[in-house]
Amino acid sequence: MTTTKPRILTGDTPTSTGLHLGHFVGSIENRLALQDQYECYFLIANVHAFTTLADKPSDIRANTMGIVKDWLAVGLDPSRSTFVLQSEIPAIAELTFLLAMLIPFNKVMRNPTLKTEMTTKDMGETYPFGFPMYAVGQCADILAFRPELVPVGEDQEAHIEMCRDVALKFNQLYCGVNNRTPPSEHHKAGGVFPIPSAKIGRVGRLIGLDGVQKMSKSLGNAIFLYDSPKDVQKKLNRITTGRQSPTEPGDANNVLMQYVDAFIAGKDPARAAEIKRRYTTGDNLGDGHVKQELGEVINALIDPMRARRAELETPAGEERVLGVIRDGIRKANIIAEETLHLAKKAMGLDFGRRTVG
Ligand code: TRP
Repeated sequence: MTTTKPRILTGDTPTSTGLHLGHFVGSIENRLALQDQYECYFLIANVHAFTTLADKPSDIRANTMGIVKDWLAVGLDPSRSTFVLQSEIPAIAELTFLLAMLIPFNKVMRNPTLKTEMTTKDMGETYPFGFPMYAVGQCADILAFRPELVPVGEDQEAHIEMCRDVALKFNQLYCGVNNRTPPSEHHKAGGVFPIPSAKIGRVGRLIGLDGVQKMSKSLGNAIFLYDSPKDVQKKLNRITTGRQSPTEPGDANNVLMQYVDAFIAGKDPARAAEIKRRYTTGDNLGDGHVKQELGEVINALIDPMRARRAELETPAGEERVLGVIRDGIRKANIIAEETLHLAKKAMGLDFGRRTVG
């Protein structure tokens, strides 16, 4: 492994299992493509899972194992990338506390991503202190690895913005970086933290089978990466567009056409353009035909993943997953400890260096 590759960090919270096509086009596809060009850190935010599931530790554990299995099944490769288990990286917890001093409380409470979560999850006034704190924790997750890029869905942008702000402030306050230094120059100017940028996936938001809302497990409008080939086709066949016949000009932005963009255009742009032309001009291309073609393309995409996922649901698979987790902890702590040391030194907290491992 060369050390000259730029770094990326991203992650998932193990609050549920089962990747669907929305996750695939929103983030997984992006991660797969980045594995060669970047030094990648993929974080399992299992501590954050306790913000909403503190009373269900066994679910969190099962989901944690499930996420690693999902990652291995889709082709994330632990020999090229590091899988980071948040709860075993003490530097993240320490940085969370230190960074919390540099983020105004009211700014956390105004964070639009947190606010949306509070309403969609109906959290009312009863959420734990740790819930808003996770936004600060996410800054620490990121900065502990000093990445340049953070590939995420657009719902995470507010968190990345907060992370950038706190990194700028840290570098200015403790590393003598001038407040007119542009973010891209901070590291060169002596800042501990490079200022990371969000990288939003190709399809930020994949529409669900209902053609209205974002694809999501809880809305029941998702195709899962582990649905059987038959179920994939059945689900597609149930999509309604309101189009009456193959000679009626179809809507270029309906759910079927959005899926053509998401699943055919990347691989075969000419075919996607042909489908769209015939569909929108009413050139005898029926919804049923498009659904069939989408079914074939989607099944070809997920067949190998489904097979790999099944292999991991065995005792040997379970052992492999634990091995990958332990290996990742070891690799991740090397860099996170180094970051913490640099940060503490900048803060005048370098009273002695410990080893973690
Ligand atoms: N909050 C993210 C999500 O729910 C998961 C996450 C935790 C994350 N820490 C991160 C993503 C750091 C990117 C970087 O999807």
